[in-house]
Amino acid sequence: MALRPWQVTFKIFRQKNGEKPHYDPFVQEVDPDESVLEVIERIWAFKDRSLTYRHACHHSACGACGMRVNGSEKLTCITPVRAVTRQGGTVVVEPLRNFAVVSDLVVNMSPFYQAMERVHYASIIPVAGAPLQHGIRPEKGRSSEVEAGLLRLSDCLECGLCVSACPTALTSRDYLGPAVMAAIQVQKGQLTSDLVETADSHQGVWGCHSAYECTAVCPSFVEPAWRIMDLRGELIKRGLAGLFHRREAAE
Ligand code: FES
Repeated sequence: MALRPWQVTFKIFRQKNGEKPHYDPFVQEVDPDESVLEVIERIWAFKDRSLTYRHACHHSACGACGMRVNGSEKLTCITPVRAVTRQGGTVVVEPLRNFAVVSDLVVNMSPFYQAMERVHYASIIPVAGAPLQHGIRPEKGRSSEVEAGLLRLSDCLECGLCVSACPTALTSRDYLGPAVMAAIQVQKGQLTSDLVETADSHQGVWGCHSAYECTAVCPSFVEPAWRIMDLRGELIKRGLAGLFHRREAAE
């Protein structure tokens, strides 16, 4: 028996050209199993062509569709409507926090991507012959190396959900954020002095308040909070090793 559609009100954050923000309500008939992104696309197609939002892959691989849905960070392409509301309910859709709004649901991710680049995060890793992790597979046709199995996408999608959920990023503009710290921890075996310096600061691991909100919202199980704690341990170990080394040299 076909499921009867639900009637749901989508309240969507709107802001253009730095004007005062507001929310536009759209009453929609929805299939509870369709994704929040599909409903947003229908609103754009049939009700308001000026609505702006980001998406690409539709299968949780590109990280482009991150938004706040009823106050929680989600990849909207894999969030079914039934997971966030009920028949007759309301879904509030907002852009990610801790990023500047460009237009409606689109935020400026450039500073975040630049910070990831600064810590040498590679979103594609050469791993000839190594098994893929977490079931994440390179997109077919991306390059001949990918097709030959010589590269794989690393786990972090650079979607920014962790940055949006982070209470420290909300109060401290200097804090580099969970994804950047996780990207440094991934390189733990070969930390350069500039990475150690970046991590060993209040912009880095010592700025984190251990709220674990980043880990709660990460869609690809990177566990940034655990990585930050691990990186703290590594920095303490290095600090103590340096101290003993200096003492021995002085004796
Ligand atoms: S559209 Fe690519 S992750 Fe959602």
